[in-house]
Amino acid sequence: MDANAVDTSMTTNMTGGYDIEKIRSDFPILSRKIHGKPLVYLDSAASAQKPKVVIDALVSAYCDTYSNVHRGLHFLSEASTDAYEAVRGKVAHFIGAKSGDEIVLTAGATMALNMIAQCWALPRLKAGDEILISIAEHHANIVPWQMVAEKTGAVLRAFPVDEDGSFNMTAFTDMITARTKIVSVPHVSNVLGTVFPVAEMAKIAHDANALMVVDGCQGVVHMPVDVQALDADFYVFSAHKLYGPNGVGILWGKAEILAELPPFLGGGDMIDRVTIEKSTYALPPHRFEAGTPAIAETIALGAAVDYVQSIGMEAIRSHEQDILSYAHQRLSAVDGLRLIGTAVGKSGVVSFTMDCAHPHDISTIIDNDGVAIRAGHHCAQPLMDFYDLPSTARASVGIYTTREEFDALAISLEKVNRIFA
Ligand code: ALA
Repeated sequence: MDANAVDTSMTTNMTGGYDIEKIRSDFPILSRKIHGKPLVYLDSAASAQKPKVVIDALVSAYCDTYSNVHRGLHFLSEASTDAYEAVRGKVAHFIGAKSGDEIVLTAGATMALNMIAQCWALPRLKAGDEILISIAEHHANIVPWQMVAEKTGAVLRAFPVDEDGSFNMTAFTDMITARTKIVSVPHVSNVLGTVFPVAEMAKIAHDANALMVVDGCQGVVHMPVDVQALDADFYVFSAHKLYGPNGVGILWGKAEILAELPPFLGGGDMIDRVTIEKSTYALPPHRFEAGTPAIAETIALGAAVDYVQSIGMEAIRSHEQDILSYAHQRLSAVDGLRLIGTAVGKSGVVSFTMDCAHPHDISTIIDNDGVAIRAGHHCAQPLMDFYDLPSTARASVGIYTTREEFDALAISLEKVNRIFA
């Protein structure tokens, strides 16, 4: 097919009850124009757009109920506290946690991973112990472990993926040793889209007496997650990729493990009793939530969770899988384009390079057509080294993404080819 032609026969407006037009109309920003062209937002993996219900919840939290939480006996403080605390239960239900007490509200997934590294790993690891990650990690699942390794003498090791980005069970199990104390992997790679078999990996990690940590940032947004079925020990994610606000993240941990951890930060709201000589600490999850939290943002995360649940995570997965397979087919037809990451069952992102242009140039040129993608190392420099690439271009899929948007991307990429010809 001519890459410039839009294949309307494959257009999805409504498939299997998934009302894409309605969903798109829920997101105010999607109707704006960029450089005079309709916005084609293919950068949801970096940060997702926000539906009006989330924006309204944020505004309402400031206009109708705002006050500090856990600190007042007046009406607004109680209203704010109730709305804030209700989010723990919503998130617990959303990811299949046993209760809201297992949900620690953090400033983001990065903070959550740092908490696990500092609170669980630092007091436990000894020289020669091993932390096992994959080569496909975001820097947030590398640097916190390096910081702990430097202080303890533990060793950080990374198992490779296959050339096409597939998870390789043998490569993983070959690197599990009697010294492995932690396995920490992404649920879904933010560059390759590879879905890691975290339930199987958790079983293997536990058989080796290792802790299992999952960076769920790119997982929980694309598929139903049941943390009890996965049986990892920790699962973390950020609100802003789940159509919620910035500055909020979730650390889910098994109650019995959270109960053993010391605080991360000291301050107000995380204590039981403070004297000048010493302090005793609150029970989890409050033990890990020092200081005034992101109150309105957390309440708005609750609205985001309600929103995606009203569509249904299984419906979202099925819609996005359709878009992703169309995207692969459409982009494969672009001259000189190489897909990076083609594992079976992948999710969420399409990374690529082009023979004719650097990813930064690609992104800048197609921006003129209103097309937003990410270009760079995607905070995954070891993975770029693995592929011997400085960077890639990456288009990502969200609940509002359409096939027509990948038509627009493909047409714009052909223009890049013509410019550099
Ligand atoms: N981690 C985000 C990404 O992959 C920012 O783009």
